[in-house]
Amino acid sequence: MRVSTLMPLFAALPSAFAAPQQPEFTNTTELPTHFAMLLLPRFQALDVFGPLDVLNTLSMLYSNKTAMTLTLLSKTMDPVSTTIKDINGKSNFGEEILPTNTFANILGKEKSHPAPTNHTTSVDKDIEVLLVPGGGGTRQNMTEEIAFVKEVYPKLKYIISICTGATVLSRAGILDGKKATTNKRSWLWATSTGPNVTWVPSARWVEDGNIFTSSGISAGIDVTMAWVGKIYGEEVADFVANSMEYERWTDPHRDPFAKVWDVPGAV
Ligand SMILES: *[C@@H]1O[C@H](CO)[C@@H](O)[C@H](O)[C@H]1NC(C)=O
Ligand SMILES: *[C@@H]1O[C@H](CO)[C@@H](O)[C@H](O)[C@H]1NC(C)=O
Ligand SMILES: *[C@@H]1O[C@H](CO)[C@@H](O)[C@H](O)[C@H]1NC(C)=O
Ligand SMILES: *[C@@H]1O[C@H](CO)[C@@H](O)[C@H](O)[C@H]1NC(C)=O
Ligand SMILES: *[C@@H]1O[C@H](CO)[C@@H](O)[C@H](O)[C@H]1NC(C)=O
Repeated sequence: MRVSTLMPLFAALPSAFAAPQQPEFTNTTELPTHFAMLLLPRFQALDVFGPLDVLNTLSMLYSNKTAMTLTLLSKTMDPVSTTIKDINGKSNFGEEILPTNTFANILGKEKSHPAPTNHTTSVDKDIEVLLVPGGGGTRQNMTEEIAFVKEVYPKLKYIISICTGATVLSRAGILDGKKATTNKRSWLWATSTGPNVTWVPSARWVEDGNIFTSSGISAGIDVTMAWVGKIYGEEVADFVANSMEYERWTDPHRDPFAKVWDVPGAV
């Protein structure tokens, strides 16, 4: 075979294997830069790390365009665990994460900032986007978490809940009269926390004004991707998803789990 007959094939290779180009932000007005994750005791690991990895990836890919700040918030500066020590049970399987600031400090209710540590993020401006995960802890005493969300919400640009994290929002009263969704396996309990909320039975996530609520656990990745798509552009969200080798759910109404868990009104 002569070289010349191979040339067109080789010439076609670069485009066939071309990597996608990193898209520019389509919306450059007032992009949020300060994010916070609310850490509650016995949080669901993927509720926290799914959305955070979307934002970590966005921050890494666009570090030359935007300086994103993350605050990890809790009642105290103590490590927050996905589990509790169960003296009767056999299993004590879980992970701990270190907060970088407290609710009281964010609300200006502490005289001094927490002692600086090497994992403390400096807070240069108010939190703009708050993420609220779910998990077993949402069925425990959430008094402080609910009070914090109630007080901080009016200052936020966006709030995003994952899974049963929606019950912290509903009990803070911020979902009243709004459409929202939550975990499908915990549907009856979770929706009982918000009698005046329009709960959407079949939804991967729901957007109502500046509030985004998502279904169970892994849906947190999709709601965060959807939020990134809305704020930075769909091409940016697709690029982040491709970088994570994650197949996005782009239809908020696609929800097979509503039927799996026999949610009333599931379609
Ligand atoms: C900076 O951002 C552009 C996209 O806006 C991207 O193409 C480029 O690779 C980035 N550069 C670095 C060093 O990250
Ligand atoms: C641009 O960003 C702002 C602030 O985040 C948001 O309110 C607005 O909807 C966005 N506009 C578009 C066209 O995406
Ligand atoms: C922070 O890290 C530096 C260098 O690794 C270390 O010397 C210092 O003791 C650390 N400070 C705290 C408060 O952990
Ligand atoms: C729940 O927590 C709040 C605030 O920490 C506390 O005042 C209250 O007594 C607790 N309630 C129960 C039932 O433990
Ligand atoms: C729900 O709305 C009704 C009618 O406005 C009101 O009476 C009731 O107190 C509300 N319930 C809650 C839990 O906010």
